[in-house]
Amino acid sequence: MRRKLVAANWKMNGSRAANAAWLTEFRAQRSPCETVVCAPFVYLPQLAEALAGSETAVGAQDVSEREPGAFTGDVAAEMLLDVGCRWVIIGHSERRALHGESDELVAAKTARAHAAGLRPIVCVGETLAERDGGHTLQVVARQVAAVLARCGVAALEAGAIAYEPVWAIGTGRTATPAQAQQVHAAIRAQIARVDAAAAARTRILYGGSVKPANAAELFAQPDIDGGLIGGASLIARDFLTICAAAR
Ligand code: PGA
Repeated sequence: MRRKLVAANWKMNGSRAANAAWLTEFRAQRSPCETVVCAPFVYLPQLAEALAGSETAVGAQDVSEREPGAFTGDVAAEMLLDVGCRWVIIGHSERRALHGESDELVAAKTARAHAAGLRPIVCVGETLAERDGGHTLQVVARQVAAVLARCGVAALEAGAIAYEPVWAIGTGRTATPAQAQQVHAAIRAQIARVDAAAAARTRILYGGSVKPANAAELFAQPDIDGGLIGGASLIARDFLTICAAAR
């Protein structure tokens, strides 16, 4: 039985004051499922300190594919671990689109994160044009295959995959539970061809306009093991309601 996981993706949002207010509201309730809060690098120590000893872990939103060294502006996996971060989002569609991150780079970052002891949340998903062209399963399979080829199943089993259709991110347009389930089942079948037992244990999260109003029916699908929550995670009360839907 897979334990549900709900991760907040704050994206490039937050301030010390706003984070403190969010944390106060969030900690007033016990999170009903396993949770991770993924914040901009500079706020990770603040979160790690506030959430120490709680069941909520801290995650970053990117990591370098390299070991520490002369790479100005990059952040190594060891540094994330050093400040109390345990998870990292890798290959979010905003990084793939705006920073040109390729399937190979995403796989390299996943390998590095896993080798260092971080739990990767590897994001995959098709654009609207790819869906309209009937290429959804092919695109997602290619993205997953790159990670499997480089890292095997272990990195995914230790972390999670997040299926996030690009057309559903921040648009208010959610994949229907049936649309999401179809892709999640295909991803699990792809992993199962490598290792069936590991596939049964790997958590596949859905992301893209998840809100308090639609979380429960998405999380009720057999292959949806939780969510990666962007906009709705900025409001602690809404994030807690979504976590409650994953119980
Ligand atoms: P959204 O973002 O919930 O605002 O659609 C999800 C994500 O990008 O991880």
